[in-house]
Amino acid sequence: MVLGSGLDNPAKQKELSRTLDLMKVAVFGTKSYDRRFISAAACQPLEFTFLEPRLGPDTVALAEGHDAVCLFVNDRADGQILESLAELGIHTIALRCNGFNNIDLSVAEKNEIAIYRVPAYSPHAVAEHAFALIFSLNRKTHRAYNRTREGNFELEGLLGFDLVERTVGVIGTGEIGRVFAQIARGFGCKVIACDPHPNTCWADEAGVLYRELEELLAESEVISLHCPLTAATHHLINDAAFAQMRDGVMLINTGRGGLIDTTAAIRALKSKRLGYLGMDVYEEEAELFFEDRSLQILQDDELARLMTFPNVLVTGHQGFFTTQALSAIAETTVASLVAVARGETPDERCRVKR
Ligand code: NAI
Repeated sequence: MVLGSGLDNPAKQKELSRTLDLMKVAVFGTKSYDRRFISAAACQPLEFTFLEPRLGPDTVALAEGHDAVCLFVNDRADGQILESLAELGIHTIALRCNGFNNIDLSVAEKNEIAIYRVPAYSPHAVAEHAFALIFSLNRKTHRAYNRTREGNFELEGLLGFDLVERTVGVIGTGEIGRVFAQIARGFGCKVIACDPHPNTCWADEAGVLYRELEELLAESEVISLHCPLTAATHHLINDAAFAQMRDGVMLINTGRGGLIDTTAAIRALKSKRLGYLGMDVYEEEAELFFEDRSLQILQDDELARLMTFPNVLVTGHQGFFTTQALSAIAETTVASLVAVARGETPDERCRVKR
C-alpha cells in the first residue's frame, strides 16, 4: 500500500510505499445496492467489510484493522475523525461519489491521508434526473398519478408549459452540467450557462451561450445547479439571487443542498418569485436521506414546510442511482484501491487535491 499516497513529494511518497498482499477496506454506510455493485467489481488484493453505519465520531472505531475506508456523501470525515483514522493507520480514503465537501482536506493532507473520488460516472444519470424533476414539476405527473388512481380525471391544476424555446440556465458546465445543457438543447431550449472556467469550444458546438451569473439569473425561466459545494458556492442561491430572478422561475438542484439557502427559498416560494423548486439534495440531508423515516416524526421544520408547497418536489439524493452509474462508481473505486494496494499511482483524475 502507498501510505500517504496523496503526498506531492515523490521522495516521501516512495519512502512510504509498500505493496499489500491483502488490502482490507471498511465500507461505511452501505446498503444492499452498494454490496451488490462493489462485490461484482471486487478483485484481488481487496477484501471489503461492509458496514451499515455511517462514518462519524461514534463509528470511526469500526475502521480498526483495515487499511482503507470507503465513504459516501453523508459520511463525516471532519478533522477529528481524520485524525482518528490516521491513528488507526488508515491513509487511504476512497469516496464512492464525486463531491468531497464532507472531507476536511487540510487535515487529510496534514495526516498524509490520500483521498480518491469518482470524478465521472454516468453524468447522464444526474442530468436525466434533473429533467425528471423538471417534467414532473411542469406537467405535474406526480399529482396526475395520484388523481387518476382515485378515479379523478379532472385537468384543473395540471396546466404546464411547453419546454421548447424556454430559456434554461445551467450553473456549472462540468461533466453533468454539459450533459444537462445538451439534453435541454435537444428539447429546443435556449441554453445559457455560467462557470468560472467556461468551456467555450464545447459551448460553441452545443449552441450554449455563457453569461455572468447575474445575467443568467435574470434571463432564465428554468435554472439548474451543477456546480460543487465549496466555500464560494455555499448559499449561492440566496435572497439576493432570488431577487434577481424572473417571477415564477423553476429552480432545480441536483448539485448539493448547501448551494441553496433553504430559508430564502421558502421566502421566495411564499412570495411566488420562485414558481417551482425541484430538489434532489437538501442542506440538512445528512440526518435524513437514504433511510426510511416514514414512521418517525420529522424534526426538520424547513423541510416539512417545503413539502407543503404543491410546487416543490423533493427526491432523496437519487440522481446517481442508475445501474450504469453504480457499476461505474464501483469499478472506479475498486481500480483506485487496487492501484494503491499494489503501490501504483491511481488515475490522477481520481485524486482529490486541496
Ligand atoms: P465537475 O467537477 O465536472 O463540474 C463542476 C463545474 O462547476 C466545473 O466546471 C466548475 O468550474 C464549475 N463551478 C465551480 N464553481 C462554480 C460557480 N461558482 N459557478 C458556476 N460554476 C462553478 O462536477 P460534475 O461531475 O459535473 O458534478 C457537479 C456536482 O453535482 C458535484 O459537485 C456534486 O455536488 C453533484 N452531484 C450530485 C449527484 C446526485 O446524485 N444528485 C451525483 C453526482 C454529483
